[in-house]
Amino acid sequence: MTIRLTFRRAALGVAALLLGGLLFAWSGVMTIGASSGHWPVTEWFLHWVMRSSVRTHALSVKAPEDLSSPALLARGAGHYATGCAPCHGAPGQPQNPVMQQSLPSPPPLAREPGDWTPEERFRIVQHGVRYSGMPAWVAPERTDEVWAMVAFLQAMPQMSPETYRRLAYGPEQGEEAQAHGAAGLRGLAREEMADCARCHGPDGRGRDNAAFPVLSGQSETYLAQALTAFAEGKRHSGIMQPPAARTDAAALREIAAHYARQPAFPVPQSADAALLAEGERIARAGIPEEGVPACLSCHGGAALARNPAYPRLHGQHAGYLETQLALWREGKRGGGPFSVLMHTIAERLEPDQAKAAAAWFATRREAPDQ
Ligand code: HEC
Ligand code: HEC
Ligand code: HEC
Repeated sequence: MTIRLTFRRAALGVAALLLGGLLFAWSGVMTIGASSGHWPVTEWFLHWVMRSSVRTHALSVKAPEDLSSPALLARGAGHYATGCAPCHGAPGQPQNPVMQQSLPSPPPLAREPGDWTPEERFRIVQHGVRYSGMPAWVAPERTDEVWAMVAFLQAMPQMSPETYRRLAYGPEQGEEAQAHGAAGLRGLAREEMADCARCHGPDGRGRDNAAFPVLSGQSETYLAQALTAFAEGKRHSGIMQPPAARTDAAALREIAAHYARQPAFPVPQSADAALLAEGERIARAGIPEEGVPACLSCHGGAALARNPAYPRLHGQHAGYLETQLALWREGKRGGGPFSVLMHTIAERLEPDQAKAAAAWFATRREAPDQ
């Protein structure tokens, strides 16, 4: 007997299969437990889909030329220690056995980094992996931060546990940093300060070249405002939002006051004379034809004394200042109640003008005045 395949029969067949599938799911016989693992074929299929997707989406990504600067590695390692190591482990630090029971389980990236290109790693870290527990970057638009993480992931498999600890926790670790930084802090703030000190140092000077902005010498008002903005998600950073959000609000206020009490620390920096001259012109006179006001009208010594919500720029790392201006220009930075002022100003600055102004402020040791 032959059965002729008609459209009607095919449709009925598909409907019967769908119904059967639904009934099977409804019966509850299928296990969704992570303990029994996937069938090998399911495992193979899921990873094949993941690899193909990552490969195709990475085609439009272009890696920066230098992924080896100490500042990038320190920024990546600092975040890895709290944001990734609990699932993936780290050099000298085994994986959490609880996370190893998740399905798929997170690979131990220090030993088994996988053969991804930097662009593919960028794609995975920026967007995460659906249905796997691998989270997306908290602020996916901060591509500068995602590259810092990729730089660290590339270097981690060759890294000794000692180098990793120094990069992730700073030269003064744990109790030492707490003892040094905690003078004047009480209770909870004393403990929570150790987290900030990993990256910013107990005195707010930062470490590893330009890895972290200098906090010492900044006003308490500005620091507290910046921390609230990070904690509430109004200023976007995959590296700073988590520590601000996991720290108690009262402790954050005390820590802001602690850093504001530390003596200012102008970072020694130098730059090309022509660039500095251009930067000084913009800082003192603005760019009237573009509607850019003089930076010193808000960031000069007299203005800072008048309005503690304005940050000091002098002696800050040039690279940090330039990045913040670029973020405003691209609509990616928020901040405190007056940050909209900076959005309007930064939008009107060309990248080379922003670079010049950043370099001039960075090389000033004292608060400049107009
Ligand atoms: C909650 C646990 C968890 C956290 C936190 C986590 N991951 Fe993952 N990650 C996973 C899991 C699970 C996978 C496996 C995904 C898969 O097999 O499809 C994974 C996969 C990856 C991969 C691809 C590895 C490979 O060879 O397949 C990279 C790279 C990665 N994670 C980096 C990171 C980084 C960087 C961070 C921190 C910013 C991070 N992960 C945070 C769970 C986590
Ligand atoms: C993993 C490293 C890391 C940790 C931990 C960390 N920070 Fe930060 N912090 C950074 C980085 C990187 C930036 C620059 C963020 C950006 O580019 O948006 C920053 C920026 C800041 C700023 C803004 C500075 C400015 O000039 O606007 C403040 C304030 C700050 N951090 C305070 C803290 C406090 C307080 C803690 C502890 C609760 C802390 N940070 C924990 C890395 C860290
Ligand atoms: C009208 C006042 C005003 C003027 C003029 C001004 N700024 Fe600002 N600037 C601010 C305020 C307010 C903030 C803090 C924003 C926030 O809440 O995060 C800021 C922040 C910044 C920051 C970020 C600092 C940090 O620690 O993250 C940079 C960089 C900066 N300004 C550069 C400039 C430059 C360059 C100029 C001149 C072209 C300029 N500003 C002119 C008010 C001003």
